[in-house]
Amino acid sequence: MQTYLKGRDMITTQEWTKDELDTIITVALELKRRRAMGEQHALLDNKVLAMLFFFASTRTRASFEAGMAQLGGHAMFLDSTSTQIGHGDTWKEIGDILGRYNDGIAIRNVDWDVGNQYIRAVAEASRAPVMNMQCDWYHPFQALADLLTVIEQKGDPSNLTFNMSYAYASSYQKPISVPQSVVLLMTRYGAKVRLTRPPEFKLFPEVIAQAEENARISHGSFEILEDFEEGMRGADVVYAKSWGSMLTTPDHEESARISEKYRDWITDARRMDMANDDAIYMHPLPADRNIEVTDEVIDGRWSRVFDQAENRLHAQKAVMALTM
Ligand code: CP
Repeated sequence: MQTYLKGRDMITTQEWTKDELDTIITVALELKRRRAMGEQHALLDNKVLAMLFFFASTRTRASFEAGMAQLGGHAMFLDSTSTQIGHGDTWKEIGDILGRYNDGIAIRNVDWDVGNQYIRAVAEASRAPVMNMQCDWYHPFQALADLLTVIEQKGDPSNLTFNMSYAYASSYQKPISVPQSVVLLMTRYGAKVRLTRPPEFKLFPEVIAQAEENARISHGSFEILEDFEEGMRGADVVYAKSWGSMLTTPDHEESARISEKYRDWITDARRMDMANDDAIYMHPLPADRNIEVTDEVIDGRWSRVFDQAENRLHAQKAVMALTM
């Protein structure tokens, strides 16, 4: 267990060692226990987290804000439209100035080809640690909450077949940050990881290479499948969600047209029955109900989506308590 992580940025879990990630999970479980017992844990008394959003959020905003309050600190909500970002405040002003006011800066910027670079630039300019609340490449806090959920619900990930699958959605072209972060983290923990997706819905080649290397080091495995039902068969965890085909086309209308070919990629009870008997279903939410996943599955015996959403709180509190 690591005992000094103050000042560390959390932009991707790849930049944290396995021992450091284990520390986050251990602390998250301890903070979850303390909250369940009603024990005070004001570990960040008088500390302030600036939360800067360039994109909408339900869970991320609410869980960071609740988490800071439970840790005895305060979370300051900022967004790109009501600040002076549109009038000249660049990453340098945001990083340097917010870093002087606050003990941490958390940012959500999912703009394609911009978000990750922006968060890294703010981190360079800031004296306070920077947390990635989702960018175009990564959603590390979602993946940490997912890992915590898998460990709680299914035990040691190295015994599990984990299917990270594309699912059809009609609402919008969702970022690829969740599947990228999830395959990166689950391969660190030795799971037999499947990435199941149509050929047009690729992830970045650099991420695929890292996932392969992670699997080699952890003695797990990583394979890519292109058949929705093949991904389901024998899985212990079915994590099926939509994402956009941005690596095939940057045009969202064209991406939406491509996705129409895969309307049948919906997680329903018949598909869940192809997985192992005690398989669980996961989704980071928001989901397009009865398009990505049927009500029968997301509200049924397989679903752990609300435990997953709760674990955002505990995983984020662990990282904030350790780094701020
Ligand atoms: N899963 C997730 O990040 O949810 P929000 O977009 O609502 O924050």
